[in-house]
Amino acid sequence: MDWKIFQLIVLYIGYLGLSVESQCLENNDTHKCKLGTKTPYRLIANLNDSLINYPGCIEKKIWLLVRHGTRFPGKKYVPIMMSKLPHLQELILSSYVANRSRLMPDHISQIAKWKLNFAEDAVMKLAEEGEREMIDLAERFQSRFPTLFPEKYSNLTYKFKYTATQRTEESAKHFALGLFGLQGSKDVWFPEPEYRDPILRFYKRCQRWRKEVDKNPKAYEEEQKFIQSSVVSDTLKDISSFLGFQVDYEAANLMYTICAFETAWYSNSESAWCNVFQPKHFKVLEFAEDLKYYWIDGYGYPLTYEQACPALRDMFNFFQSKEDANVTAYFTHSGTILKLLSLIRVAKDIEPLKHDSYTLHEDRRVWRVSMIDAFASNLAFVLYDCKSKNPAILVMHQERIVHLPGCPKNMPCPLSIMKNLYPDNEEECQFDTMCGLDGNV
Ligand SMILES: *[C@@H]1O[C@H](CO)[C@@H](O)[C@H](O)[C@H]1NC(C)=O
Ligand SMILES: *[C@@H]1O[C@H](CO)[C@@H](O)[C@H](O)[C@H]1NC(C)=O
Ligand SMILES: *[C@@H]1O[C@H](CO)[C@@H](O)[C@H](O)[C@H]1NC(C)=O
Ligand SMILES: *[C@@H]1O[C@H](CO)[C@@H](O)[C@H](O)[C@H]1NC(C)=O
Ligand SMILES: *[C@@H]1O[C@H](CO)[C@@H](O)[C@H](O)[C@H]1NC(C)=O
Repeated sequence: MDWKIFQLIVLYIGYLGLSVESQCLENNDTHKCKLGTKTPYRLIANLNDSLINYPGCIEKKIWLLVRHGTRFPGKKYVPIMMSKLPHLQELILSSYVANRSRLMPDHISQIAKWKLNFAEDAVMKLAEEGEREMIDLAERFQSRFPTLFPEKYSNLTYKFKYTATQRTEESAKHFALGLFGLQGSKDVWFPEPEYRDPILRFYKRCQRWRKEVDKNPKAYEEEQKFIQSSVVSDTLKDISSFLGFQVDYEAANLMYTICAFETAWYSNSESAWCNVFQPKHFKVLEFAEDLKYYWIDGYGYPLTYEQACPALRDMFNFFQSKEDANVTAYFTHSGTILKLLSLIRVAKDIEPLKHDSYTLHEDRRVWRVSMIDAFASNLAFVLYDCKSKNPAILVMHQERIVHLPGCPKNMPCPLSIMKNLYPDNEEECQFDTMCGLDGNV
């Protein structure tokens, strides 16, 4: 099909009965907005793609960090799914036959028909939904900032980079497809991906963080204690009594995970597995996931986010260099997005998330991975030249303008303030020192 006609059809379908605000901001009660890092971006996206205009300011450059789109499960997870889900399926069906289940008959027949629907070689690859997420995201950014994103590609204007993985490479290529169309995107040049890229995946190089946080059992303690708490055991009892057999945390989490993936993969059908849970169960499973990411990739330990300064410095350098491109777009991972969000103090709760803070945080927390780190999550910094030659930066997260603490409201934040607030030079960003790499090169 002709690309332009295809785009028109997609646009038309997109506009049918949709308001500009995303489902999860208007009505976050649905379980689809509580699927953690596997939440599909279509429910989070800001569909308002009108021009962003600040009187007296002209946009000059944009620096974008994008998590890859919806993918397939990973190498460790696929065999577990292949062996355990059919077993759970049998238990659910036999329990129903024995009159021990309270699942609705039509939900039972959906479970009976279910099959794991992907090939083994799809491991970690970008799914079709992920391709659409990238095309749509690119189109909306282009529509908001048409002068920054010319429709004709030039390697002088655009600087793309992805990590050494299929899912970020395909994400970058589909983003380019959204910007330049089928023909134009064929010419796009991408640099060779770097193993443990120092900007896109800095944490892979931070030995101290790997040892003291990522691989340290203590960093998982809050999540583990929550899993052992009465909040979770009551949830498991509920699910067990509903299904008519004993469901442990691992089984519940597996069903939650497949519910999440299938919800992300298929925008026009419901995953049979989501019917196993009530709304309050999703909230509990979501909190367990939020706890894990809070302590591994978020505010839990200062080193986790302080080590993200090379990425922030890359943004400052890009904005302060004269002859560079006007678009930098990096395609990367959840771990990078969350650490950078924490470094700039976005989605920061007053009280830390703890195993015993569920009651406090249940309905009142901003650290909600479903909202801040869904598939295709993105963080944009836009450089403006404002009146009297003052440069200023606008920050957008999930395509929405973010007000940073310490910055003036309702306008881009002056570069000088940004530089005071955040590490922007070598002295303030001693990556090797903080990561224990001194003299180790
Ligand atoms: C969920 O929606 C309610 C009302 O619509 C709102 O007050 C609340 O802040 C929302 N929560 C999140 C995490 O977006
Ligand atoms: C859409 O975004 C523009 C620019 O940010 C804003 O001025 C406008 O009010 C928004 N429209 C709606 C319906 O939210
Ligand atoms: C983007 O770069 C091109 C050439 O490199 C330049 O002509 C154009 O003015 C730049 N756009 C903006 C908005 O600065
Ligand atoms: C199934 O169980 C319910 C109550 O637990 C009972 O009323 C009903 O008769 C049972 N049906 C069969 C077919 O055993
Ligand atoms: C842009 O493309 C030209 C021609 O293919 C190449 O010689 C040049 O090195 C490229 N420039 C950059 C900045 O990648």
